[in-house]
Amino acid sequence: MELSQRGRLMPASPIRRLTPLADAAKARGTQVYHLNIGQPDIPTPPEMLDALRNFREPVLAYGPSSGLAETRAAMAGYLQDLGWPIAPSEVLVTEGGSEAILFAMNAICDTGDEILVFEPFYTNYSGFACMAGVTLKAVETRVEDGYHLPAREVIEAAIGPKTRAILYSSPGNPTGTVFTPAEVAMLVDLAVKHDLYVIGDEAYREFAYDGRTATGVLGVASEAGAMDRAILIDSISKRFSACGARIGFLVTQNAGVLDAALRFGQARLCPPTLEQYAAVAGYGLLQKYVPPMIEEYRRRRDTVMAGLRRIPGAVCAVPEGAFYVQPRLPVGDADAFAQFLLNDFSVDGRTVMVAPGNGFYATPGKGREEIRIAYVLKEADLDVAMGLLVRAVETWNARRADAT
Ligand SMILES: Cc1ncc(COP(=O)(O)O)c(C=O)c1O
Repeated sequence: MELSQRGRLMPASPIRRLTPLADAAKARGTQVYHLNIGQPDIPTPPEMLDALRNFREPVLAYGPSSGLAETRAAMAGYLQDLGWPIAPSEVLVTEGGSEAILFAMNAICDTGDEILVFEPFYTNYSGFACMAGVTLKAVETRVEDGYHLPAREVIEAAIGPKTRAILYSSPGNPTGTVFTPAEVAMLVDLAVKHDLYVIGDEAYREFAYDGRTATGVLGVASEAGAMDRAILIDSISKRFSACGARIGFLVTQNAGVLDAALRFGQARLCPPTLEQYAAVAGYGLLQKYVPPMIEEYRRRRDTVMAGLRRIPGAVCAVPEGAFYVQPRLPVGDADAFAQFLLNDFSVDGRTVMVAPGNGFYATPGKGREEIRIAYVLKEADLDVAMGLLVRAVETWNARRADAT
């Protein structure tokens, strides 16, 4: 029996692809430090877990397809506090930001349409694009520029007759880059000029360091009179260390897009019910919970950077936000290096797992010498993991030198 073209082309997640090798290493008794996946270790607020436990209804019933009224109100209230005039009716609760991205793509694109992205980009954009029959048109950003945007003309040159939207994440995964207000304004302006949607993925909004504030697509679009083009992707996964809740939201003032997304939502009936109550509890804790967590990640970032600076030839700007860094390492083939870490390397029974950087690019061959590190471990563990990485690069390069 044949598979569909989509079934064949759907990419495996580069973040999880090497998991069988990690499992084999663990079976050999090796301790693996996971820097490959953005699964935060910070405890979820207990009040959110209490909200799950305190559910007292006799039936765990389907909820509304657009989300529970109190959840939409909490999300809209959160956005209003950021200064954006969003009504609860303009918020669609989704199964994670992931579903919001998929709904957005499906609502605005036909098969063969293009969405502009900046590579390296959040790798699952490729999977969602495959599911939606969309082609990602990638504009390169460079590690030397801290993965900030290239000149306006470069981006404009990539816009063609099939381009329907610009999609970006800021604070960025895998780059850690926080686009400046001028960069977001440029993207909104390009969207206006070329009649495009602009999709801002702000799953890491609060994760901005050194006094930075992430610029929101809704604020910029509102000032530019372009609210009908703006689609916000948001999520509680990282903000409340609640990835397993599977609660995100899509926000737009474009009534057509919202209505189409809702009809996609009706097909999957409703987002998770219990977890929506947990989300409501979370939004009541924002001021208490989030700032200390961000400070913890900032310290972790500094630990990772201190480790990277010990690798001669590593290229990496200090990440400005999120909890990722995508350095270029002098290892030749980072995919082979990532496999070596799991197959052939350990010090005192310990090794480290990273995501090969090429999986965050659409253009074949790019990101070949890059890895992505998610700094989601405690500082002491990160320190050990970075020490292992430094040793691994030395060992790997000594072997390569011997082989030639
Ligand atoms: C940039 C970005 N967008 C969206 C998501 C999806 O998150 P979720 O579906 O858990 O809300 C992630 C998850 O890592 C992400 O990094």
